[in-house]
Amino acid sequence: MRLLPALAIGMLSLPMVVFAADPHSYAQPDQVRVTHLDLDLTIDFPHRQLDGRATLKLDWTNPKASSLVLDTRDLHIESVEAVDASGKATALKYAMAAAEKQLGSKLTIAAPAHPAQVRIVYTTSPQASGLQWLTPAQTADKTQPFMFSQSESIHARSWVPLQDSPAIRFTYDAQVHAPKDVRVVMSAINDARHPLNGDFSFDQPHPIPSYLLAIGAGDIAVKETGPRSAVYAEPSVVGKAAHEFEDTEKMIATAEHLYGPYRWGRYDILVLPPSFPYGGMENPNMTFATPTVLVGDKSLVSLVSHELAHSWSGNLVTAASWRDIWLNEGVTTYVQGRITEALYGKTLADEESLLSARGLEKELATMPANSQKLAPDPRGIGADDSLSDVAYDKGSWLLRTLEQRYGRDTFDHYLKGYFDHFAFRSITTEQMLAYLKPNLIEKYPGKMRWAEVQSWVYGTGVPKNAPLPDSPRFNAIDKERADFLAGTLAADKLDAKGWNTQEWMYFLDRLPDVSPLQKMQQLDAAWHLTGTPNAEIGMRWYSHAIAAGDKAAWTAAAEHMTRIGRMYLTLPLYQAFAKTSDGLVYAKQVYAKAKAGYHPLTQQAVEAVFASAKTAQ
Ligand code: BES
Ligand code: ZN
Repeated sequence: MRLLPALAIGMLSLPMVVFAADPHSYAQPDQVRVTHLDLDLTIDFPHRQLDGRATLKLDWTNPKASSLVLDTRDLHIESVEAVDASGKATALKYAMAAAEKQLGSKLTIAAPAHPAQVRIVYTTSPQASGLQWLTPAQTADKTQPFMFSQSESIHARSWVPLQDSPAIRFTYDAQVHAPKDVRVVMSAINDARHPLNGDFSFDQPHPIPSYLLAIGAGDIAVKETGPRSAVYAEPSVVGKAAHEFEDTEKMIATAEHLYGPYRWGRYDILVLPPSFPYGGMENPNMTFATPTVLVGDKSLVSLVSHELAHSWSGNLVTAASWRDIWLNEGVTTYVQGRITEALYGKTLADEESLLSARGLEKELATMPANSQKLAPDPRGIGADDSLSDVAYDKGSWLLRTLEQRYGRDTFDHYLKGYFDHFAFRSITTEQMLAYLKPNLIEKYPGKMRWAEVQSWVYGTGVPKNAPLPDSPRFNAIDKERADFLAGTLAADKLDAKGWNTQEWMYFLDRLPDVSPLQKMQQLDAAWHLTGTPNAEIGMRWYSHAIAAGDKAAWTAAAEHMTRIGRMYLTLPLYQAFAKTSDGLVYAKQVYAKAKAGYHPLTQQAVEAVFASAKTAQ
């Protein structure tokens, strides 16, 4: 349940398609490849649209190719031209296919003469799936409108016409025009001292996949957190964010010590309004982050370790298709744990590994066999279907297993070599395995059989002998929880005063799905969970309170759901409410008020919860 609760995950399933290199893109990289994007954008807040001009540099790989096929979604195309070396433009014929629900519209541009560049003038739709537009009233400081992108997995195509596949990498530069006093940031080097004069320019000199294209604009202030890091956020949030993320430089230095130099220059973080639909997004040079991790005690800063870790696993070495996404998320979750351990100690890192492993075990029990595989059979898999706990938690568990078998020094050396070997490339699971075999498994014989590796990658579930850390503190919590449920320990006698965030998460995660109402009321009376400022704890608590029928928690749950658009923190409450007809009616009322502040993806996911509740009743 890392990014999306299970119900929402299935909604992006594809109809059966003929399996190509990347079934989630119409691009034909065996014919032609985009190598550079030159983007000119005007941010039109009143119309909630971007007016764009995308000039694509092309490398024609097949001499017989006759067209350039691009991905688009809800784009209005104004013109398509070939541009020659001297800048002379000639109109090209093009055809926009009818929209397919998941993939959008295929744009086929006739280009038998193989122009070096093609230029497309277009506008985005106010409903673009990859953009959110907020009015000043929907921001913290209420002075300026705000907009931001979220391109992963396949939403870049809703704001730029391109080959929207992680297998294709390109450099980009951009000129962006915005109202005065608004700051624009992108997934490229950002200059904190740039005047807010309405004209910004960016240059990303490293080849990146399209899902790492990102833009944000609004009343954004900047505060340094280190020699190569800063936080960007609304003025009233930036101080708190700088404090929460004050260890950023230490994190970068730790990752560099393990895996070699940080290759991107600066590492900045943009803290978005609470409607940001995810926890974090590893946009190069500028991680996008939810404000729900700003809890004041740095207890949720693993999010930064995670997004920073993607600078190696994901942004440097990229999964070639969405089916291989565990190469991004599993390796990153492993590296995240190593950064956490180095900075905050093994006790906390082990707690986070255990939360991840226990959560996975629970989730696996409800999953179809194919989804339990790290590398599933791609047929019939939607772009976001592989984004379950399996990619994150089974993936990182495999890496912890390798580390344990080969020893830390050997494994660290191997992983650093892997990042260097595949740097700035997009690879499949099979390419990763072809490197793993000679460079680790066969190089140090007798530690792990190849068949074991294969059963981790292509098998269901988790191998029985998968290693788990031991956490005396979690063991004590298991005992307290059991005693509390058995009635031998009163709620106010729980030894919870010193529990950190992860320990509360663990206590709540392993309560029965539906607990007796009285027990939940006692827990709340003793520990004041209703109204908690910590949304990770709140999400878990309200889920239990709703399931137990504790109507006293409804208003606070509704407040949480209205304020927070991060799907992982909000959808579980919709799901909990949707289990009863009273609850469903209430949740629909909450949604009616909250909807305007939600990202298009969050809206879609909540509506999917309602739709499946209807069929279930
Ligand atoms: N790259 C992901 C976010 C993502 C994945 C967005 C796939 C859309 C499709 C990011 O690195 C991530 O994993 N974020 C997590 C936070 C993290 C601490 C596990 C999230 O958003 O919850
Ligand atoms: Zn991630």
